[in-house]
Amino acid sequence: MYSINPSKTDAWSRLTQLASTYKDLRITDLLEENERFERYSLTLEDMLLDFSKNRVNDDILKALRDLAEETELHAAIESMFAGKRINETENRAVLHTALRNQSGHAVYFEGEDVMPEIKAVLNQMKSFADQIYQQKWLGYTGKPIKSLVNIGIGGSDLGPVMVTEALKAYQNRNLEIHFVSNVDGTHLAEALAKCDPETTLFFIASKTFTTQETMTNAHSARDWFLTQAKDQAAVAKHFVALSTNAEAVTEFGIDPKNMFAFWDWVGGRYSLWSAIGLPIACAIGFENFEKLLGGAFAMDEHFRHSMFDRNMPVILALIGIWNTNFLGASSEAILPYNQYMHRFAAYFQQGNMESNGKYVSRSGEKVNYTTGPIIWGEPGTNGQHAFYQLIHQGTHLIPCDFIAPAISQNPIGDHHEKLLSNFFAQTEALAKGKSEQEVLSELKASGMSEAEIEKVLPHKVFEGNRPTNSILIKKLTPRSLGMLIALYEHKIFVQGVIWNIFSFDQWGVELGKVLAKKILPELSGDEEVSSHDGSTNGLINAYKKMRKG
Ligand code: F6P
Repeated sequence: MYSINPSKTDAWSRLTQLASTYKDLRITDLLEENERFERYSLTLEDMLLDFSKNRVNDDILKALRDLAEETELHAAIESMFAGKRINETENRAVLHTALRNQSGHAVYFEGEDVMPEIKAVLNQMKSFADQIYQQKWLGYTGKPIKSLVNIGIGGSDLGPVMVTEALKAYQNRNLEIHFVSNVDGTHLAEALAKCDPETTLFFIASKTFTTQETMTNAHSARDWFLTQAKDQAAVAKHFVALSTNAEAVTEFGIDPKNMFAFWDWVGGRYSLWSAIGLPIACAIGFENFEKLLGGAFAMDEHFRHSMFDRNMPVILALIGIWNTNFLGASSEAILPYNQYMHRFAAYFQQGNMESNGKYVSRSGEKVNYTTGPIIWGEPGTNGQHAFYQLIHQGTHLIPCDFIAPAISQNPIGDHHEKLLSNFFAQTEALAKGKSEQEVLSELKASGMSEAEIEKVLPHKVFEGNRPTNSILIKKLTPRSLGMLIALYEHKIFVQGVIWNIFSFDQWGVELGKVLAKKILPELSGDEEVSSHDGSTNGLINAYKKMRKG
C-alpha cells in the first residue's frame, strides 16, 4: 500500500487553518442554520445518523473530504474489497467483507474465488447450529446440549459475547451460553459451576490455536469433562474447534469433522462473521446469523458505493479525525441507550485500539500527528450516573456517539420513553450547555442570597459545545446490529488509511506475551529471581513469599 503522510497534504494545511479560523464555532449557532439537520444527517434503511451536533461546517467537511481524496481513500477501499494484501506487515489480505458477501458474485483472492469455501463452511455451520438450536445434538449420555461454553480471547471472544448479548431477545432460552476468556482460573471455574458435562458443548475458538489463555482453558475444560465422561471418544460430541490451524486442532484431539475453518485473511477482531460466529448461530439460530451478515453486507455496499459526502462510515471517520487531530480530543465514548448492547463499546475497544493504536507510519517512520483515540463507554443511562460529569464539565474534550433503538424489545410501562428522553436530552445538553446568565436567573428565582449565588454559580455553568453523533435505529435486530458493526469497522478502516498506518496487524500485544512466557518458569520454586529490573525482581520475589500463605 502507498504511504502518504496526511500532515503533508494540502487538505491538512487547510484544516489547520480552518481550525484556527473557526476556533469559536458554536454547535448551537450551527444548529440555527437552515436545514442543518436535513443536510447533516444520513439514513440507510432504518438507520439514521445525525452528525449535525459537531463543530463542523461545510468548509471543514469539504476539506476533510479532500483529505480523504489526497490520501487515496478510494483506492484503499477498492484494494481491501479486491483482496489485495493490504495487511503488509503480516503479508495478508483483509477480506472479512467476503464472509458476508450476499451479492451472489465472486470475490477473488489472488485469482481464486473465495466464495465456494466460505459457503461450504456456512453450510457446515448451518447444519451444526440447527442441531444445537433445536436441541437435537445429543451429548455422550444421550441428553440434549443445554450449555454452550465459548473458550477464546480477544477477537475470538469479544465479538460472540457482544453479539449474543445484543441479540439475547432472539436466543433460544433453553440454551445457556457462557464465555471463558481470562486465563484466571476463576473465569473457567465459575462457568463450569453452572454446567453439567453431559449437556455441555465447548467451542474452542482460536484463529491460531496457540494462544496461551485459550489453550490453557481448553485443556482444563477437557480435563473437567473427561473426569466425568472417562471416555476420550465422548470428546467428539462435546468439543468443536473454530480455527485456521487444522493441525493443532487435530493434535488437541478434536475430530476434524468438528472443526469449522476460516482463513488467514480474516483478522481476529473482524472474525465474528466467520466460523468464530458459530456460537452466535447456535444461540440465535442460523437464519438470524445470516440476517446479521446481511446487515453488514448492506453497510459494505453503502460504504463501497456511496459518495464520500453521503457515506456513513466515511463521515464518522472524518469527523473523528477533525475531533482528534484538529480539536485535540484523545478519546471517544460509545454510549448505547440499550442494555442489550452493554458490550458494544468493549467490542470496539479492541476493534479500534488494536487497529489504530499505532505510532509508526506505513513507511516505517514515527508519525507526527495523533492516531487512534482511546475508546470507552457504557450503556446509558448508567453512564450518566457515573462518568458523564466529566464529559459535561471536565477539561477533556470527549466526542460521544449516542446509539438507540426507537422500539424496545421489552416495552414495560414508560421505561423506553424515559430512556429515550435521556438519549435526546444528553446530546442537547452537551451541545447547548448552560450559560452564566441562565444559571443566574434560575438561582435568583429560587430565592438564593447574593453571597450563595456567587459561590455556587461557576459550578453550575456548562460550557457546552461538546460534539456528539446520534445513531437512531428502528429496532435492535440481527440486521441492524450487522449494519452498526460494519459501520464502525469501516470507520476504523478509513481512519487507518488517512493516518497512514497499518490497521490490521497487532504487534503491540507481542512484547508482553513473550515476557510472560519467560517469567512463567521463573515462578516455580522458591529461588530468588534476579534476571529482571529491580522492580520486576522485587515484585516476583514478594509474590513468591506471599503465596506461601
Ligand atoms: O490480542 C492479540 C490477538 O492476536 C487478537 O488480535 C486476537 O483476536 C486474539 O489475540 C486471539 O487470538 P487467537 O484467535 O489466535 O486465539
